[in-house]
Amino acid sequence: MDRRQMENAIAGVVRHLGASLKNRGLYPPTHPLVRTPVEKCRMELAPFFADRSELALTVSDGTLVLEGVPIFQLTSSLELFMARLGAIGLPAVIFERGVSVEDIELFVRFLHETKEQGLPIPEIKARLARWGVTHIRVTAAEEEEKDDYTLAREIYGNALGVVVRALKDVRNGRTPDGAESDRAVREMSGMVSRNRDAMLALTLIKNFDEYTYNHSVNVSVLSLAMSDTLGLPETERIAIGVAGLLHDVGKTQLALDLIRKPGTLTVEEFEEIKKHPEEGFAILGKMTHIQESTRSVVREHHMRFDRTGYPRPEPGFRMNPYSYVIAVADCYDALTTMRSYQKARSPQQALEIMRKLAGKSLDPDLVEMLERSFGIYPVGTMVRLSTMEVGVVTGTPDGGKGEPKVAILFDRSGNPLAAPQGVDMKESDPSSGRRRRMILGTVNPLMHPPVSMSGILQAVSR
Ligand SMILES: [Fe+2]
Ligand SMILES: [Fe+2]
Repeated sequence: MDRRQMENAIAGVVRHLGASLKNRGLYPPTHPLVRTPVEKCRMELAPFFADRSELALTVSDGTLVLEGVPIFQLTSSLELFMARLGAIGLPAVIFERGVSVEDIELFVRFLHETKEQGLPIPEIKARLARWGVTHIRVTAAEEEEKDDYTLAREIYGNALGVVVRALKDVRNGRTPDGAESDRAVREMSGMVSRNRDAMLALTLIKNFDEYTYNHSVNVSVLSLAMSDTLGLPETERIAIGVAGLLHDVGKTQLALDLIRKPGTLTVEEFEEIKKHPEEGFAILGKMTHIQESTRSVVREHHMRFDRTGYPRPEPGFRMNPYSYVIAVADCYDALTTMRSYQKARSPQQALEIMRKLAGKSLDPDLVEMLERSFGIYPVGTMVRLSTMEVGVVTGTPDGGKGEPKVAILFDRSGNPLAAPQGVDMKESDPSSGRRRRMILGTVNPLMHPPVSMSGILQAVSR
């Protein structure tokens, strides 16, 4: 099953469960409106077990997550189903291969008839066993839930696929599916609110060959993180996130050699590049599910804060304030990426450069906000500790205050550890009462072999 089919099947499974549960309250158990959805649910489940032995359905922070895929479009029967799960105290339900219509029916009956709230997991397990439910298990969310890093990686990968398809569509003269971009950004936005560090860590993926694709997703994630800090409402976040994802879509009209050209461009070449915001604006105009402000932002993303960029704004032209958000995200990602003509800057170096651009090409308030929310040591910064160990920052404290989270990669002699080791920077030495470790400063990441941030994050989150 591809991702789209999987999402549809997932939505189907839960919709049928919810429908059966709802009708259970209105009709006798043998009524077709109770029984048929259960049969349909069994049918929707079947393809999943072709390549896996179980399927986990989790409720996490009020969001239904099936096999790591958050489901955001909720229908009323879905909501009822979730409300029942939540009330009884069921954080996760696992369907095993071999699950039968009877199992599902009994499970729906259990949900319908259990009126107590907040039951302990062992009690729920015992009851399901008594009722004769096999092949449907319940667990505490911690046991089965995919960790945030795996989830974030899947969501990032999906968004990458959406960008690749969108740009390919444009190259082939087709109009990309705006609903896909919208959905991908919604998922990323949900993940940013849930675990910002997990999502931001992925923006450190810099793939030289696929620069435009990763860059597009990174700008989207970074702008979503900024929208989150700004406390913007969901619709606006999505508008900005989609603009990030598609901001350079107009570059598809340019020759590939020009996009990849190392070094300085000729005047003519630069004139060509300058067309991409307008081209993007035109492409977005043909797409569905694109908010008006998204289009404006794509058109304005190079106008610069001081309005000296391109296309040059007419006097009195009112720029969309979200264009400044994309400009900051765009700049940060470009600076921290290695290009044929430029070495990658560390997050700190990038922020330093951006401070100089504040008030010129970039909105100074946003640069300051980015710096504050990333802290002195942004995620991905390599640091040397007072113990002479070398590690990487895996998490930023809220609001940039306090100690960041660090994973040690090299011991005091510079030997790599077998596995990254997460350390508590607040831990103190019992003999002296002082902190065991402090950050001395940053380390040039080029001195060390490249590290996979998401791999490290996953390792230390276990
Ligand atoms: Fe651009
Ligand atoms: Fe860009």
